[in-house]
Amino acid sequence: MKSKLQRIGVLTSGGDSPGMNAAIRAVVRSCAYHNLECIGIFRGYEGLIEGDFKPLGPRSVKNIINRGGTFLKSARSKEFRTEEGRAKAYRNLKEADVDALVVIGGDGTFAGAIQFNKEHDFPIVGLPGTIDNDINGTDYTIGYDTALNTVVEAIDKIRDTANSHNRLFLVEVMGRDAGDIALNAGIGAGAEEILIPEEDMGKDRLIASLKRSKKAGKTSSIVVVAEGDQIGKNILGLADYIRNNMDEYEVKVTVLGHIQRGGSPSCYDRVLASRLGVGAIDALMKGERGVMIGLVHNKVISVPFEQTLEGENEIDTELIRVADITST
Ligand code: F6P
Repeated sequence: MKSKLQRIGVLTSGGDSPGMNAAIRAVVRSCAYHNLECIGIFRGYEGLIEGDFKPLGPRSVKNIINRGGTFLKSARSKEFRTEEGRAKAYRNLKEADVDALVVIGGDGTFAGAIQFNKEHDFPIVGLPGTIDNDINGTDYTIGYDTALNTVVEAIDKIRDTANSHNRLFLVEVMGRDAGDIALNAGIGAGAEEILIPEEDMGKDRLIASLKRSKKAGKTSSIVVVAEGDQIGKNILGLADYIRNNMDEYEVKVTVLGHIQRGGSPSCYDRVLASRLGVGAIDALMKGERGVMIGLVHNKVISVPFEQTLEGENEIDTELIRVADITST
């Protein structure tokens, strides 16, 4: 690496999330502010391997702070998992005279960055961009707040019809390994039960609880199910199980799916993305590398990539208690 940074590449990788555009914008404009050149890399690590690069200036990122998705596009690159793929990516970076990279994505993106760094000793700083909020070292990931609002809005609508027909709805939300969306949206939308991967409720306890709340006078029920939950993984099977074990309700299933990944980012996500994008360039200029820029107690911090991937996703037990108490 040259002693002075001149050209910085930016890419988005893995599942897209609302606010990624705002993060790219902040990186590009922060580069311009510091008289650095910025190179946009399209389709994540895939574009790095194929040399799909384009210079970006402050005007290239106009009118995108409010747009969902990522204008740089994203991919889950299989080739970057191979040594040859990473070597090709390194050659492209060298040929284009890129001195450092900002990668915006989730745990898979950071795992790729760690491996790349081990082999090629290249300065990389990451930003947490995923709706799942499952990255250690930051209180919030970019896109999570917007996804929560999308889910709550959808469940509010489902509740209207559930209530009109005295039905029980199972609503599946995203979160392969993390229950953050389910738990927080569940509390926010007043769900009767919330099933998350971090806690195994068991089918029988679920039935007992639903029967109890029916007895207590509830006429309809919403059960929010994280897609990675033990008993909720097969949501249609779970619906059948409930049908076979209680006849108090007619049971319906709604899978919210990728609607949760789209839409205009919330103000919170735009501000978060802007702060972290500026923080990424600040960190690189201070000589930091191999770190993710996150937000802890409302302060922008940096944390080594390795630490962001450590352990299982942790759920705040206070939130579980709040959900239990407020759903009675
Ligand atoms: O990691 C983000 C996420 O949205 C998960 O919640 C979900 O399980 C996964 O991506 C879906 O990925 P894909 O869009 O590749 O199917």
